[in-house]
Amino acid sequence: MPKKQKIAIVGATGAVGEELLNVLAELDFPVESILPLASAKSVGSEVEFKGKFYKVKELTQSVFKEHPVDIAFFSAGATVSEKYAKFAVESGAVVIDNTSHFRMDKDVPLVVPECNALDIKEWKKTGIIANPNCSTIQMVQVLKPLDGLFDLKRVDVSTYQAASGAGKEGMQELVEAMQSFFAFKLDEFKAEVFPHTLALNLIPQIDIFMDNDYTKEELKMVNETQKILHKNLEISATCVRVPVLRSHSEAITLHFKKEVDIKKAKEILAKAPSVVLMDEPKNKKYPMPLMISDTNETYVGRIRADIYDKKILHLWCVADQIRVGAATNAVRIAQKWLEFEKCN
Ligand code: A2P
Repeated sequence: MPKKQKIAIVGATGAVGEELLNVLAELDFPVESILPLASAKSVGSEVEFKGKFYKVKELTQSVFKEHPVDIAFFSAGATVSEKYAKFAVESGAVVIDNTSHFRMDKDVPLVVPECNALDIKEWKKTGIIANPNCSTIQMVQVLKPLDGLFDLKRVDVSTYQAASGAGKEGMQELVEAMQSFFAFKLDEFKAEVFPHTLALNLIPQIDIFMDNDYTKEELKMVNETQKILHKNLEISATCVRVPVLRSHSEAITLHFKKEVDIKKAKEILAKAPSVVLMDEPKNKKYPMPLMISDTNETYVGRIRADIYDKKILHLWCVADQIRVGAATNAVRIAQKWLEFEKCN
């Protein structure tokens, strides 16, 4: 049995922070204690872990010195990680960072354990391991096994991303906009979290636009996928916010160097770690966000050969954004980190 770990959760009152506690308990991670951290406004509130209650403390520069931990999960936004992760590292903790801040730093491993667990071994360079963007995680879990079979060359992906990607405030704004609709007041609704009203709508913008007219979210999918798979793939992404609460869906077109054998593609996906094959279109069985929410796997369906080109495959995948896209991946990184540290 590995040594029990002292755990800090920065952003413990947020959507991902809360789910981290659930996943740590469900996966029976060896936890000695929990240090929940958030902004000053949450001080005094409590979080529950395995029937025990822990008081939320304010995130400060000195809190990690006063209450040293082994692992600090950061999930309170990129500016918070930029400012405070170094204090956790200085106090001796490994930081598992769920924000975009460190992801493309060449000295910080960016990890989806099912794809590149060994990269975790580089953690000592900075003390930080980065958790990828939610849309990237579920996509690479599907790309990796297929790349091994047919040698991936290019990926075209369109995402259908849930409100949860913008945290609790995003989910709340969607619910309030729906309520406005049922009160016949949707035209008076003022969106603040999203760039437009999300209820009954689709917004083809996630994050800000960059000079090349792609959004930052779309470029995250490109750059992070290449870093995780250690491959210079051609990738194009169109990221769309949809009025769904908490699971992201993706329609992916994969271009390979070799011809695709559909039977083999399905077989390898059925065996791939953390992937569930749900592909019985004649029985109307395919993954959908409502049924996939609150699970720890990436579900794949609608797998089909291209009509014109034997080297192209199309598929659809869905995963819970708060779990697979954030909390579950972070806990799986922690599990692997612990396994590697034990061997040292
Ligand atoms: P708080 O609830 O005190 O504002 P979500 O992604 O669901 O919106 O959650 C964001 C999380 O990040 C919350 O736990 C929030 O705490 C925390 N957070 C945001 N800003 C800060 C900050 N400056 N210092 C510490 N925690 C923060």
